[in-house]
Amino acid sequence: MPLVIAHRGANLEAPENTLPAFERALAYSVHGFENDVHITADGVLVVIHDDTIDRTSNGTGLVCEMTYDQLMQYDYGSWFSPEFAGTKIPTLQEFFALCHELPLINVEIKAEPNGSKDAAAAVVKLAKECGVFDNLLVSSFDMDMLQNCLAEDPATRVAFLYAPDNEEACDEICDCPVTFAQKYNLSALHPFVPLCNPDFIEECCAAGIMVNPWTVNQEHAITALRNWGAHAVITDEPALAMGICC
Ligand code: G3P
Ligand code: MG
Repeated sequence: MPLVIAHRGANLEAPENTLPAFERALAYSVHGFENDVHITADGVLVVIHDDTIDRTSNGTGLVCEMTYDQLMQYDYGSWFSPEFAGTKIPTLQEFFALCHELPLINVEIKAEPNGSKDAAAAVVKLAKECGVFDNLLVSSFDMDMLQNCLAEDPATRVAFLYAPDNEEACDEICDCPVTFAQKYNLSALHPFVPLCNPDFIEECCAAGIMVNPWTVNQEHAITALRNWGAHAVITDEPALAMGICC
């Protein structure tokens, strides 16, 4: 049975990538969380999806150009609902404290608009300090970010994220997913869900490469991936997925 990974927490019930969203996902007994991580101007790892805080807070600005103290001045809950007014931006350390017992902790490192790759080594170091390194799976659309994680510690489990807009990677993975994964020392492939088919999953599985598609929200898709042997599903619908996968 696939593991159920709550995408940005239970993001339909609470503001995405906040502690309330992850707490609500825990209530469904999910097997793991996916989050999105950026690094601040003063080197703090924070959990937020976009490059800027504009969409998910009452402030504006690029995360990588703001200090942690500056980011903490804003409200990351009211945009979603008044019930969550005053919600703060979580640090990755706070996130790890909440999910340290989960079997799969998927930290997605976002590419920074200023080109910084500092988050890669910092995520690996922090996971070790927090005792979650063994459960960590770092993913990124940015292959260099993953390679920097491996440079920090070759035992880091890394997953490449891809979608049809990355034609070059799609072609190479389609030709031979296992060769691609081995070439870059990947533990997993994270395809946009329409890119999956049973042969692809079977081939990866046989070689010990995990396939964890995103974002899988429909009953028929979750059921198909379960039947095809996906290692995990990354979903906005944790309750539905738990019903199908457990
Ligand atoms: O990690 C899967 C998925 O989250 C990738 O896309 O934009 O939702 O971070 P995005
Ligand atoms: Mg993500």
